[in-house]
Amino acid sequence: EPRVTCTIPAESAEGFEVLTLEGLSDEERVLFSDSFVASGAVQCGFCTPGMLMTAVSLLDENPSPSEEEVRCAISGNLCRCTGYQHIVEAVLSVAEKR
Ligand code: FES
Repeated sequence: EPRVTCTIPAESAEGFEVLTLEGLSDEERVLFSDSFVASGAVQCGFCTPGMLMTAVSLLDENPSPSEEEVRCAISGNLCRCTGYQHIVEAVLSVAEKR
């Protein structure tokens, strides 16, 4: 389950498995990063790790989400740069390619 880690004290993760971008396979990391770059979903990059991990969780649960489901899934992640549309398009692109 994705978590907004900037609001969670690190010690509260003790005993839990934590998956970050570095824990994804090379193939999966390249698929997501290529789709985000191709869609223009990365600008400053500050939100990108959270967006990607939220997308991974969503697509693991729902391999063919609607645009509305993607918007709902990423709604807890703030992006100051992209206006979200490009991120939604990137996630839908990954869903098609997966
Ligand atoms: Fe800058 Fe999302 S790309 S905050």
